[in-house]
Amino acid sequence: MTKRVAVIAGDGIGVDVTVEALKALEAVRTSDGLDLEWVEMPYSADHYLETGVTMPDEQVAEFRESYDAIFVGALGDPRVPDMTHARDILLGLRFKLDLYMNYRPVRLLDEALCPLKGKGPDDVRFDVFRENTEGLYVGMGGIFKKGTADEVAIQEDVNTRKGVERIIRAAFEHAKTEGLGRICMCDKSNALRFGHDLWHRCFFEVAQEYPEIETQHLYVDALVMQLVKRPEQFRTIVTCNMFGDIVTDLGAQLQGGLGLAASGNIHPGQVSLFEPVHGSAPKYAGKDTANPLAAIQSLSMLLEHIGERESAARVERAVIDAVRSNVTTRDLGGSVGTAAVGDHVASRIRDRI
Ligand code: NAD
Ligand code: IPM
Ligand code: MN
Repeated sequence: MTKRVAVIAGDGIGVDVTVEALKALEAVRTSDGLDLEWVEMPYSADHYLETGVTMPDEQVAEFRESYDAIFVGALGDPRVPDMTHARDILLGLRFKLDLYMNYRPVRLLDEALCPLKGKGPDDVRFDVFRENTEGLYVGMGGIFKKGTADEVAIQEDVNTRKGVERIIRAAFEHAKTEGLGRICMCDKSNALRFGHDLWHRCFFEVAQEYPEIETQHLYVDALVMQLVKRPEQFRTIVTCNMFGDIVTDLGAQLQGGLGLAASGNIHPGQVSLFEPVHGSAPKYAGKDTANPLAAIQSLSMLLEHIGERESAARVERAVIDAVRSNVTTRDLGGSVGTAAVGDHVASRIRDRI
């Protein structure tokens, strides 16, 4: 059956990098003969400002029923300062499609890209499993007496046994199947005595089912310190939604910047969403300067999710080739534009690299 991908380019450089990801998708579709089609969707700040529509419920239902995967460029636009559309589209899809696993691999492809002295690809090589449907992101809370001197703002941190356990278990399963040997869970259970006490207990309970995997627990402040000091000690990191957001931008920088960091918002066996970790970087929009490799690498993850492993690997090899041949944008020390990087990757895919 034809596999179907929904494409939401979104805002800012999301549009620029999606054009390049689609070049790669077309190249791999034709050269590998994939039975795959995609539909470009208008959801974005422009669409919201023109129509008042962010992400219709019927659309979410259609994604669930008739699509295999969703690709997102990036969302965020200065004309929508409260991020209404981005919250409805991105967080809305994460929550409504129950994409509980935010899988963010961190891979240093070339020593020259790492800001840490003397660290190479073997040292910066870990996967972050970020909880993606709970925590501080659920939007529970409110503001009382807004705009007065007595203002009160409450933002609830929701952690459920089911939610915490399933992401921890997913991370252990990953460590096991990939033969990674160790796993680190980070929380702040010394200060957050309820929500993160649950994380702490849950981690060590699930760990008992995986006696072959070495466990490590770190408070998040210690984790970020260790990530800079000795990143080689980490292979799999599992953490809550908010800490995962922060830790993965740090991870992105260790691998050469946001222009290389890819991610999947996954519910195994169901329609899942793939996107670069970076945002819409409005000041670079439309300037042919954004690095499209994170988006193309996210596309490779999407192909893997829909069962096209060989094609996924081919796209990944073409991304690595662009980095190693120095056909890169300025953020990676190169001198070409967004489109030239995308063209190079697409042509390497067609070469059946
Ligand atoms: P950002 O990721 O958009 O950009 C931060 C900086 O990182 C940029 O100024 C640029 O120097 C660099 N950068 C990011 N992506 C790059 C790329 N592909 N190539 C080269 N350099 C790149 O983060 P921000 O400035 O904090 O946020 C801008 C908007 O994006 C905000 O509205 C934010 O909420 C939104 N955002 C969206 C997503 C998403 O859609 N998943 C993620 C993060 C931020
Ligand atoms: C990310 C982004 C989002 C998040 C924003 C845009 C809401 O930073 O995907 O990392 O915090 O999850
Ligand atoms: Mn983020």
